[in-house]
Amino acid sequence: MAGRLRVVLDVDTGVDDAMALALATRLPGIELVAVTTVAGNVGIDNTTANTWRVLDWLGAGGVPIHRGLSRPLTGDAIDASHIHGASGLGGLVLPDPATDTQLRRPFAPEAIVDLVNAEPGALTLVFVGPLTNLAAAIALEPTLPSRIGRLVVMGGSLGRGNMTPYAEFNIGADPEAARQVFAACALTMVGLDVTQQVTVTRELSERLVGQTTPEATIVREATAHFFREGAVGSPHLHDPLAVGVALDPSLCTTKRGTVKIETATAWCAGRTTLEENADGPHEVCVTVDSARFLDLFTERLGLSG
Ligand code: BDR
Ligand code: CA
Repeated sequence: MAGRLRVVLDVDTGVDDAMALALATRLPGIELVAVTTVAGNVGIDNTTANTWRVLDWLGAGGVPIHRGLSRPLTGDAIDASHIHGASGLGGLVLPDPATDTQLRRPFAPEAIVDLVNAEPGALTLVFVGPLTNLAAAIALEPTLPSRIGRLVVMGGSLGRGNMTPYAEFNIGADPEAARQVFAACALTMVGLDVTQQVTVTRELSERLVGQTTPEATIVREATAHFFREGAVGSPHLHDPLAVGVALDPSLCTTKRGTVKIETATAWCAGRTTLEENADGPHEVCVTVDSARFLDLFTERLGLSG
């Protein structure tokens, strides 16, 4: 289809990353060119295997996957398996795909450089995990940011964090990578201020019981543990919203300026602070039309009932 947005999606799959993969493959306006993986919610072996299984389950086995970095640029790896489960996919168990031809060389940072250089100004990069792969790609090729068509990042918060009181997970898990990427790139930040406004509801989860489509299975099984008594966290649609905003920026209102990433003090590491200015390089989402996004999500995934 002419005029489709050509997207490279970087994931740390992850419950909501799985739902973002589902949305990206089901939006007719998006052509998923490649997927790159990074350590984050769980380790790199699991985020890569989860990505491979989810894409295959969705019938998108032809999308190339490039495995990426296994640890942050500095400090120790921190995961979120207490939210996403030991495998990263909650209670979702998927079969192994029949072939492994989807896993491609080169390594994710090099793949990002090659993909962007092959189509200067044409690709939309959507990053929904720690920014380690992009920081590494920019280290390989410092002029890369000038050739990125558009960069959308799920990460950060103008209010409280979800990893610490100050840091959102994707930024807090690799603050140095985030500092380098935000310093080098114009981007749209889709942070907790908007992503916590879009959630899989209990009503939606119950409506999916008995449905056997790949999309319904992913949403129901991956989020089921959030609805149990004493559950930690909520099934927010963080990463799917970033995919939605990449295609339709009018879903959110924004403020423009320069986002600074705290890296100097350990207890505040990963804090994102916006200094507003009209010609700043960063556009930060501040409100979202939740109803319109949820309609898009449920309709495109065939979950409307
Ligand atoms: C982000 O952190 C991860 O746990 C989710 O997948 C999402 O990308 C939300 O803070
Ligand atoms: Ca993620």
